Amino acid sequence: MSHDVHQVRSFDHPGEGRKRAKATPKGRQVDPTAAHEIEQLLGDRSRRRDLLIEHLHLIQDKYHQISAAHLAALADELKLSFAEVFETATFYAHFDIVKEGEPNVPPLTIRVCDSLTCAMLGGEKLLEELKKSAGPGVRVVRAPCVGRCDTAPAAEVGHNFVDHASVANVLDTAKRADTHAHLPKYIDYDAYVAGGGYRLLQRLRAGEISRENLLKALDDASLRGLGGAGFPTGRKWRAVLGEPGPRLMAVNGDEGEPGTFKDRYYLETDPHRFLEGTLIGAHIVEAPDIYIYIRDEYPACREILEREIAKLPAGGPVLHMRRGAGAYICGEESSLLESLEGKRGLPRHKPPYPFQVGLFGLPTLINNVETLWWVRDIVEKGADWWKSHGRNGRLGLRSFSVSGRVKNPGMKLAPAGITVRELIEEFCGGMADGHTFHAYLPGGASGGILPASMDDIPLDFGTLEKYGCFIGSAAIVILSREDSVKAAALNLMRFFEDESCGQCTPCRVGTEKAALLMERETWNRALLEELGQAMRDASICGLGQAASNPLTSVIRYFPDEFKD
Ligand SMILES: Cc1cc2nc3c(=O)[nH]c(=O)nc-3n(C[C@H](O)[C@H](O)[C@H](O)COP(=O)(O)O)c2cc1C
Ligand code: SF4
Ligand code: FES
Repeated sequence: MSHDVHQVRSFDHPGEGRKRAKATPKGRQVDPTAAHEIEQLLGDRSRRRDLLIEHLHLIQDKYHQISAAHLAALADELKLSFAEVFETATFYAHFDIVKEGEPNVPPLTIRVCDSLTCAMLGGEKLLEELKKSAGPGVRVVRAPCVGRCDTAPAAEVGHNFVDHASVANVLDTAKRADTHAHLPKYIDYDAYVAGGGYRLLQRLRAGEISRENLLKALDDASLRGLGGAGFPTGRKWRAVLGEPGPRLMAVNGDEGEPGTFKDRYYLETDPHRFLEGTLIGAHIVEAPDIYIYIRDEYPACREILEREIAKLPAGGPVLHMRRGAGAYICGEESSLLESLEGKRGLPRHKPPYPFQVGLFGLPTLINNVETLWWVRDIVEKGADWWKSHGRNGRLGLRSFSVSGRVKNPGMKLAPAGITVRELIEEFCGGMADGHTFHAYLPGGASGGILPASMDDIPLDFGTLEKYGCFIGSAAIVILSREDSVKAAALNLMRFFEDESCGQCTPCRVGTEKAALLMERETWNRALLEELGQAMRDASICGLGQAASNPLTSVIRYFPDEFKD
């Protein structure tokens, strides 16, 4: 008997007490047609639990949705409970779970970014207009920052991104069914090797450079983690190495902090420099397996990496590509580990730290894409070369993702310690026409907001903390007098509310309450400050701890906003 794939067969309760139970097992019954389809789709792929998210992607890609029947069949195939599969699938924004009786999801999805830079440049209006004009067979939904803030507003048609999106160019892209990622020109394996690439790795593997000398170069350069936390890289590698093996390595390519797009820039231009740094890291900590987690919003980066990894000579650690599924929190390192294990991205309590108990319970080296990208240059050119850059007493280089009201937004490689004023004038061609500098975010959504009058602070790790801000992933968003800082702070709070994993109350409830209070014409500053403090003090992870930074910055540095 054939069944509608999207229906799970109803069943009778097996009974209780002395009555004889019916011959039907407990729980959802697997539909034979759905089971067959899932078996075919998975083919000879491994049924390991940690591949759950990868398998959910297979279903979503093929059917544009995941029906309850397919979920039940997948659970059966992976020997997991339906609840485990359901809770994972529903955690991630890019999986569309369709329960029995619910309408199907239209075949094409258009996502429109409504995070800060895009909102400032018309993203919210675009979203509303597209919702009205997209027509049948197309679903238009909002999306948090997709890492293209320099070409805001950004929209995604299927897996194809439209820069400087308008109703006309988005609908035209949809009409042409141009729904696949476009690969930019980049330095491929041959070109990279021709430029001296992989020589450092070979010398390291051949023992011509000692592990200690390599680590010393990183220490001397004071390379710090560029994912946001700024932990000294050499020290982290030594800490992992100090733990008993086997050890693993995980690469954080989740880049979800609104305003940030530097990792995408490096992966889309020079991917092998990143891969060489990664392989060097794995060699140092003796990791036989490397898990590279790239956010779902970066399909071009994933395709480039898959193509280029295939060209690497045999031998060395195994590189496993893993695809995020639309959850900002999975950039937090312990949440990343949960996601790599195929689970919901709920941050873990620390300690133990990932270098002690990480992926699959093993000591794990976790680094950001850009941190690894710099390893080759720092070792080959030397720590002095790295430190020859810098300004205002700071040393090294920083990759600033600059967006907002400047003439030339984009990824700007600039000296660490540069001020925002210097960055705008020297690297961005000044403010956009008709705009006067009013405020800036020095470190993405979490790093606070400062007024233009405080434009002389060196931008680097450790320089902004005394102002209640931080540089994080160096995402600089420039606001002009056309923009409201209160509206900006509300946009950011709504982002955190949406992206909170919900695990702890101060963050889950605090972000929601704060957004409600901030929607009011008059802010209850005392109550908002108290709420912000509770979130900072009692949240489990950095999301909840930093979510109130923009809010408290506005209260502290923009008194004009509160004049009667
Ligand atoms: C809420 C939150 C989101 C984060 N998102 C990212 C991210 O998208 N990419 C990243 O590399 N690090 C992110 N981090 C920082 C990571 O937890 C971690 O510090 C980093 O991946 C370590 O690599 P690094 O030392 O090379 O920077 C995030 C942290 C928090 C608290
Ligand atoms: S602070 Fe927020 S994101 Fe972090 S664990 Fe708590 S609820 Fe989840
Ligand atoms: S792409 Fe829209 S804010 Fe970053």
